[in-house]
Amino acid sequence: MTTNTDRLIVETSKTSKIDQVDFGKLNFGRVFTDHMFVCDYKDGKWQTPTIKPYGPMTIEPSARVFHYGQAVFEGMKAYKDDDGNIFLFRPEANLERINRSAARLAMPEFPKDDFFKGLVALLKLDNKWIKPGVGNSLYIRPFVIATEPAISASPAQTYRFMIICSPAQSYYNTPVRVLFAEKYSRASNGGVGFAKAAGNYAAQFYPTSLAQKDGFQQIIWTDANTHKYLEEAGTMNVFFRVNDKLITAPTNDRILDGVTRKSVIQLAKDLGIDCEVRQVSVEEIKNAARDGSLKEIFGVGTAAVISPVSAFQHAEELFEISEIEGSYGQLFKQTLLNIQHNLAEDKHGWRYEVR
Ligand code: COI
Repeated sequence: MTTNTDRLIVETSKTSKIDQVDFGKLNFGRVFTDHMFVCDYKDGKWQTPTIKPYGPMTIEPSARVFHYGQAVFEGMKAYKDDDGNIFLFRPEANLERINRSAARLAMPEFPKDDFFKGLVALLKLDNKWIKPGVGNSLYIRPFVIATEPAISASPAQTYRFMIICSPAQSYYNTPVRVLFAEKYSRASNGGVGFAKAAGNYAAQFYPTSLAQKDGFQQIIWTDANTHKYLEEAGTMNVFFRVNDKLITAPTNDRILDGVTRKSVIQLAKDLGIDCEVRQVSVEEIKNAARDGSLKEIFGVGTAAVISPVSAFQHAEELFEISEIEGSYGQLFKQTLLNIQHNLAEDKHGWRYEVR
C-alpha cells in the first residue's frame, strides 16, 4: 500500500521477515527491519522522502561514493518500555552531528522536519522490531552517500539520505582488550576525525586486524603527532578512572563528539563523580596501572553502550585490569539504560517519545 502525505510517501511491505528472526541471538548489524527511509538530493534540494520496503537498490558504478568515499553516517537507538512506548535518546544531537559531518565532506545538510517525520513514521511502521527490556534496542543507521555518476574528484551534485534499522543487543559480549596505538593513526589536525565519515572507519580496519591477531579487539588511538596522548577507540570514546577520578580526552577536530560521551560527563556531574576533560597521556595511564591507582577503563558509544576494557598493551607491555566492586562503568551503564528505557527520571530531557 502507498500513502502520500505532505512530504512523505509511504510504501509498505507486503510481507515481514520478523518471524525468521531469533531476537535472543542477535549478531550486531546483521538483520534489518522491513522498511527503510530514502530521500534523494538533486537540483539543489532534497526531494520528497519515501519509506519503502527494505531491499537492494540500483546505483551507478560511477557514483562518487564508490570512488572517493563521500559518505557520512550516524548511530542511534530506539528503546521500548514495558507499556510499549518508544523512545529515542537525544536524537537532535545525531541530526546535528550528521549535518556537521556532511558539511565537512562538502555534502548538503538534511532538513530537521524531514528527518523527524521520516524517522518517527519508520519506527511506527517497524514498531514490532523494537523489543522491550533493558538490553534490547533497535539500532538506527542514518547515512548519506554521494550518488552522482561522475568520477572527477569533486563533490557530487546528487546524494541519497537513508535510514535503515537493525534490532540489537550488545555490541561487545565480553570486556575488550585494547592496544594503545604507536604507529598507525586514526585522525590528524584539520582532518575529518570529528566527523562520522565512512572512511574514518575503513582506515581503522587494517591496523585493527593486526591488533586482533595479537588478541586485542580494539585500538585506542593516540594523537598522530606524538602518539603520547590517548584519544578514542574508533567505535567508542574512552574514559579512564584513576582512583576515584574520571578522565577523558577533550573533543577536537580529531575526536568524535560522542552523544554517550557527553551524557556520561553530565551523569558524572549528577552523581558527584569528579570528571576531568583533559589530555590523557599514555605514560600517566601506564604509571597508574603500575601503582594500582588505575581502577577502570571503559569505552562509551551508542552501539557499545558502555564496554569495560579488561587489558591494554603499549610498547610490548601488557596490563590487565581486574573487575572492581562499585565500577563507575557499570553505574553509568545502568543509569543510562534506565533513562533510555523510561525506568528513571529524565531530568535533562534526553528522552524523545515517538508518537
Ligand atoms: C555507534 O556507536 O553507533 C557507531 O557508530 C559505532 C559503529 C562503528 C558501530
